[in-house]
Amino acid sequence: MRLEFLENGPIRLEGARFRIRLGEKEEVLEKPRIFLCRCGGSANKPFCDGTHKRIGFQAEGGVLEVEGD
Ligand code: FES
Repeated sequence: MRLEFLENGPIRLEGARFRIRLGEKEEVLEKPRIFLCRCGGSANKPFCDGTHKRIGFQAEGGVLEVEGD
């Protein structure tokens, strides 16, 4: 798995199928990529809704690669 920390923005995950559990709710998303909020300002957590631009969130970009399964 590869997580990309976009400069001044969200975390991008590439994939085709994501299983997300939030509290009692579980959802499967079929998408080529998703963007997770890391600024804390999204009204649609855990997903980015673009608020990071409005609030001037600043953070370095980077990559985290998870090896193994
Ligand atoms: S990173 Fe985009 S709304 Fe938080």
